[in-house]
Amino acid sequence: MAASSPPLLLFFFLFLLSSSSIPFSSSRTVPYEYSQIDTAFLDVSATLEQTLDVLSFSPQTLQEEPLETVAATAAAAPGSFLLRLHPRETLTEPTHEDYRSLVLTRLARDTARVDSLNAKLALALGNVTRSDLKPDRSRSSELLRPEDLSTPVMSGTSQGSGEYFSRVGVGSPPGQYYMVLDTGSDVNWLQCQPCADCYQQADPVYNPSASSTHRALTCGAPQCAALEVSSCRSNQCLYQVSYGDGSFTVGNFVTETLTFGNSGKVNDVALGCGHDNEGLFVGSAGLLGLGGGPLSLTNQIKTSSFSYCLVDRDSTKSSTLEFNTGGLAADSVTAPLVKNSKMDTFYYVGLTGMSVGGSLVSIPPSLFQMDDSGNGGIIVDSGTAITRLQTEAYNSLRDAFVKMTKNLKPASGFALFDTCYDFSSLSQVRVPTVSFHFAGGKALTLPAKNYLIPVDSAGTFCFAFAPTSSSMSIIGNVQQQGTRVAFDLASSLVGFSPNKC
Ligand SMILES: *[C@@H]1O[C@H](CO)[C@@H](O)[C@H](O)[C@H]1NC(C)=O
Repeated sequence: MAASSPPLLLFFFLFLLSSSSIPFSSSRTVPYEYSQIDTAFLDVSATLEQTLDVLSFSPQTLQEEPLETVAATAAAAPGSFLLRLHPRETLTEPTHEDYRSLVLTRLARDTARVDSLNAKLALALGNVTRSDLKPDRSRSSELLRPEDLSTPVMSGTSQGSGEYFSRVGVGSPPGQYYMVLDTGSDVNWLQCQPCADCYQQADPVYNPSASSTHRALTCGAPQCAALEVSSCRSNQCLYQVSYGDGSFTVGNFVTETLTFGNSGKVNDVALGCGHDNEGLFVGSAGLLGLGGGPLSLTNQIKTSSFSYCLVDRDSTKSSTLEFNTGGLAADSVTAPLVKNSKMDTFYYVGLTGMSVGGSLVSIPPSLFQMDDSGNGGIIVDSGTAITRLQTEAYNSLRDAFVKMTKNLKPASGFALFDTCYDFSSLSQVRVPTVSFHFAGGKALTLPAKNYLIPVDSAGTFCFAFAPTSSSMSIIGNVQQQGTRVAFDLASSLVGFSPNKC
């Protein structure tokens, strides 16, 4: 009797390994159609190792790998540009004693980010006006006094947004600057001498007088007219961008030459020369606006497509940000890009539903749709970490996930997460899959580490979705990690290619 046990166990183990769909629970207690659950592997040990490594990253370890090989492949398409893309933690000095405190900082920053996107939308939809938003007098700029421009400051201390950045050449001869990549805004800017108030950055502050291609824009320039908030002084265009979380940048709106590594350069790109910059991403010199509005880098360089791949935020790896490198990969999961006539910056996608463990979650599709007033819908955002779903949709998704993970040891909630697990005694674990279902019929099944993330180094993992009271939902960058996200602007499609970093 005892002798037959090992082969049986071995057989069962092999069965577990070989099958992507396992009987999850006794068929007596689970209806037949739900007795098979699609699962994905989560490598607990490897993930926890990274949580320790990330605490000791130092900016010196950052390697600017040559892009010759990628550039050579892309060179076939004229007008294509490539930039290397790095996660935030490889630029900032490590300041956290443990992973838990790093996660809390990230989540606080993420909340500020989501608030700022919602404030921007509320302004665009006319729910609030700039004057409704109380200016923060302690932060009023020397350059633009409150009577010139109101500062739509909401509240709270800014954590400095920006999760991924690239190195971009600005001016002639080009200086190299770390710039945050942001699909949720349009105006490009960088800190600029002379500084009324510049935060600390890794590179020397850009000096316009040392560049032969720097030109101030006049007040009548079309780029000046395209600004949401502008002012005129001595016939020079002044810009201001406020991110709704207390952070802002103010200065001259100018044109400059941008150089993209060794892949090429573009002249006369309108950007903000920021003389007064507060509450922004310490370390970076500025921001590349990749939104859908007229002043974004993507629109200014008239790219028909761009794509990025966000490497794991806890790794020292880098990936690429590419412009004009062609249409969507044949194997990508595509979704329609949807325009909001009231808000051209954000990239809305057609989402019809979500599934857990291979079964569609019961969520009214209307919860993901935009209405005529421009409310609702779901955007893909590079700067938001955790996917936000309207509360009703979130609750249904969470309930479905909890129902299929009764075999896993629960842990208490953490910050905005209400569904966490104790994996401290496991080196790997099978968990139900989570998928997005897009209009057009394609589904994107997420890798397990894109929805179960560590919140400490001891083995507590949380279900990385959160509810939002806003009508707008957001697909965040935790869910996009390791996936090439390509925006085919010419065909109004977004493509997701898993494992294409
Ligand atoms: C704008 O106001 C409407 C009506 O009160 C509300 O339903 C909607 O959620 C608001 N939208 C935003 C983005 O604040």
